[in-house]
Amino acid sequence: MDRATATLTAAAPRAARPRPRPRPLRLRPAAKVVLFVVCLLPFAWLLRGAVLSTLGENVLGANPAEALIRATGDWTLRFLCITLAVTPLRQLIGKPALARFRRMLGLFTFFYGCVHFLCYSWLDMGLVLDDILRDIAKRPFILVGTSALLLMLPLAATSFNRAIKALGPARWQALHRAVYAVVLLGLLHFFWMRSAKSNYAEVAVYAAVIALLLGWRLVARARPVRRAA
Ligand code: HEM
Repeated sequence: MDRATATLTAAAPRAARPRPRPRPLRLRPAAKVVLFVVCLLPFAWLLRGAVLSTLGENVLGANPAEALIRATGDWTLRFLCITLAVTPLRQLIGKPALARFRRMLGLFTFFYGCVHFLCYSWLDMGLVLDDILRDIAKRPFILVGTSALLLMLPLAATSFNRAIKALGPARWQALHRAVYAVVLLGLLHFFWMRSAKSNYAEVAVYAAVIALLLGWRLVARARPVRRAA
């Protein structure tokens, strides 16, 4: 074997060796359980506060009913923002596997919205349907909140694999764009409520976060699609 052939045969196995691929993000099944427990923590904390308040302990302040309604409203808006942050985050850090958590986060948003509505209906309205309906019609910020919650209903109801199959991906995606209306109505509801006391500091923070999350999507959509050469 001459030197040139020897060099070629020696180099061949090295050239055929596959290039090391970036390691995929390993999100074990336990991650979903951990997320589920973490998402339940605010609820558990508020439930503890409610129970202790009924036992006469002053853990929720002077007005426990108001504290519960407000805290559950806050968590609904926070979960909406967290759910909307999944897509930008997974694209920014290049981890598509994060999409696995979006459905659970969306359902927790709906859960906190329902708890918020239940707190209001029970603690503010004494579960009297007539009073609830009259209040929704009378106070515009309550009407806006109710519209947001009602819009979330079909999203929660179609968040399962069977519904995605039945609707088809295109129609399912179009329906789930309603989440943008939900977050804007939620923000308007919050703004309207706080405008009574001209207290806009927190509203401004949420507005900035929501503008960033929605603005990011607009920019991503406007960006030209790169074609493979
Ligand atoms: C997606 C739906 C909703 C979101 C995101 C939401 C969010 C919020 C937020 C952020 C607050 C203010 C909390 C604070 O001051 O820290 C709030 C307060 C409140 N919300 Fe909602 N809400 C929703 C739906 C509803 C519904 C359906 C009702 C009732 C029908 C409702 C009734 C109220 C009431 C009564 C307050 C407290 C007002 C006060 O203390 O004067 N909300 N909500």
